[in-house]
Formats: sequence, structure tokens, C-alpha cells
Amino acid sequence: MPHHRTSRLTRTASKGAKHVSTLITRSPGETQAVGICIGRKLPVPSVVLLLGALGSGKTTLARGLAEGLGLRDLSLVSSPSFALINIYQGNCPIYHVDLYRLADRRDFDTVGLEEFLGSRGVTIVEWGEKLQTPVEPAVAVELSDEGDDVRSLRITASHEVSDLLRHLSSPDKRGADSE
Ligand SMILES: Nc1ncnc2c1ncn2[C@@H]1O[C@H](COP(=O)(O)OP(=O)(O)OP(=O)(O)O)[C@@H](O)[C@H]1O
Ligand SMILES: [Mg+2]
Repeated sequence: MPHHRTSRLTRTASKGAKHVSTLITRSPGETQAVGICIGRKLPVPSVVLLLGALGSGKTTLARGLAEGLGLRDLSLVSSPSFALINIYQGNCPIYHVDLYRLADRRDFDTVGLEEFLGSRGVTIVEWGEKLQTPVEPAVAVELSDEGDDVRSLRITASHEVSDLLRHLSSPDKRGADSE
């Protein structure tokens, strides 16, 4: 099971309460399992931002998210680095966007984000830090490679979905964030 390391609540003046929790995973399967748990709880429409360096596990997490959202054929989920976007059909449309290669405004127009971002289905954005459109993600996950197969996942959930962090914690959970 992913190890639940910290859990806390932060507040920003403009965006209300954000619930933050950091998990450690020790295999791609564990990262995918975290994605499944989050995917099952996501409202529709919603946006998930995935942040983190090359190879940190964003696509692996996206595969779990898609599974949690009811996608059957997970072999469809690959890094849309060249296409910029893959669309899958789970219980709702899943827009899997990868902004790594995004060069300019014209690329943004190619993706056609305004057609669905925050208004239809679930949009998962790899390299979410490159998003130039203001968006209130339901969940943002910052992944980092801690060496070997260890990854830390810093998960920020909006107030609306803060409950999902509690479901993520393993049985030895400490200090669920409920303030
Ligand atoms: N705990 C772990 N969680 C996720 N992936 C892991 C873990 N341990 C090892 N890995 C490996 O790290 C790699 C993560 O690749 P993945 O494509 O998911 O990363 P990414 O962040 O999407 O990369 P990119 O920025 O190139 O799109 C895979 O080869 C996976 O097997
Ligand atoms: Mg990727």
C-alpha cells in the first residue's frame, strides 16, 4: 500500500481551502492504484493537473485515473507527447493532455482546450504547470522521483473533493486532514 506521510490543510486568500497530502509509492503499480482511488472520486466535469519532471510517473498515474474513471482498455493510455492530446471513453470522456512539447499559442489552439477544459468530462493535464488558462483543478499532483522505484506524490485537493485524501491513506493513517 502507498505510505501516507503527511496530511495538512492550507489556505490561500483567493482560492479557499486546499487539502494537501503526501504519499510515497514504491512501484508503478502503487502509483496506478493511487490514480484509481482518485479517479473513482472525481466529479464530472473536473480537471486534474499532473506536475513533475520527465519520468516522475505522470502517465502512470494518468493510467490509474483513467481506470478509476471506468476506462477498460488501459493500453490506450500513453503519453500524448506528440499528439498533445488523447481522448478515451470511460464513464465520461477523458481528455488526456500533455503540454511538454507545447511551444506557442498555436499549439494551444490545436489542443482546443476551451472545448472541454473544466466544462466536459475529466481533463488530465501532464505538465500542468504550462497551462496558460486559469483553471481551478479538483486535484493537482506533484510527483517526484526519490530514487529507484520510489516516488513522492504531493496531492492537493480542492475543498470539493477533499474527502478523497482520506480514502487514499493506508490503514496506518495518521492525522487525517479534516479541519
Ligand atoms: N513508484 C513509481 N511510480 C510510477 N512510476 C514508476 C515508479 N517506480 C518506477 N517507475 C517508472 O518510472 C517511469 C514513469 O514513467 P511515466 O511515463 O509514467 O512518467 P511521466 O512523468 O509521464 O514522464 P514524461 O514526462 O516523459 O511524460 C516508468 O518507467 C515507471 O515504470
Ligand atoms: Mg508522460
